[in-house]
Amino acid sequence: MYIDLHNHLLPDVDDGVKNMEETMRSLELAVREKIEDLCFTPHIYEGKYNNHPDKLKKVFEEVKKNTKEIKINLHLASEVHYSSSLSEDFKKGLYIPYGKKGRYILVELPVTLLPKGVEDGLYKLMLEGVEPIIAHPERYNYVQKNIKSIINLIKAQIPLQVTTQAIVGALGGSARKTAIKLLDMGLISFVASDAHHPEKRPFHFREAVRILNNRYGHSTTRILTIENPRRILEGKNLLPVRGKKGRLSPYL
Ligand SMILES: [Fe+2]
Repeated sequence: MYIDLHNHLLPDVDDGVKNMEETMRSLELAVREKIEDLCFTPHIYEGKYNNHPDKLKKVFEEVKKNTKEIKINLHLASEVHYSSSLSEDFKKGLYIPYGKKGRYILVELPVTLLPKGVEDGLYKLMLEGVEPIIAHPERYNYVQKNIKSIINLIKAQIPLQVTTQAIVGALGGSARKTAIKLLDMGLISFVASDAHHPEKRPFHFREAVRILNNRYGHSTTRILTIENPRRILEGKNLLPVRGKKGRLSPYL
């Protein structure tokens, strides 16, 4: 039913799960959370997680072989750490965008400081034919302080992804409040888990869906957890998301 487009459950490639057993346990839990499609998004962060796509694809094939019995559709993409060489590195084939068409790519920004010229860097990436999606804005200190810190990204209609972990409060009060505020404003295109471990940092998917349903209703929740994630995998235009009072974002 649900589609999870952001997690670190590929074994031993970043700060996520450490081995195949943890990956398998995570995928079994995903099925229980009613996740039908799961896209691994290992970190690609030069100097910290030097994950070349060839290596990641090899590990991904290994995982597919070992999890044939588990009823879940698996995909592979990457979570790219923002740098000023983003578009050059993309051209070199160092990143994995979403789906066969590769229209969208997940980009994370630094937590403490919004990099200078980030709009230009992301724009250059778009000129290469791939559209950035900003991972978990609710976790960034500058967004927690003031949502308008990323007003230029919002005006450029760059999709934003909020984590289930933040929605359920597992990342603390500030991340939760910011996530809800962004959702209320209709600024979030979809929700994903950013799960790192089957128990210590799990999916929280159904719990988050319950909260979303209560606050925004079924149709918005469906767009956030199923429709838009599917469109990202298929390389289609995203549906607009209504905020708290049924209005679309005042910025768009
Ligand atoms: Fe992540």
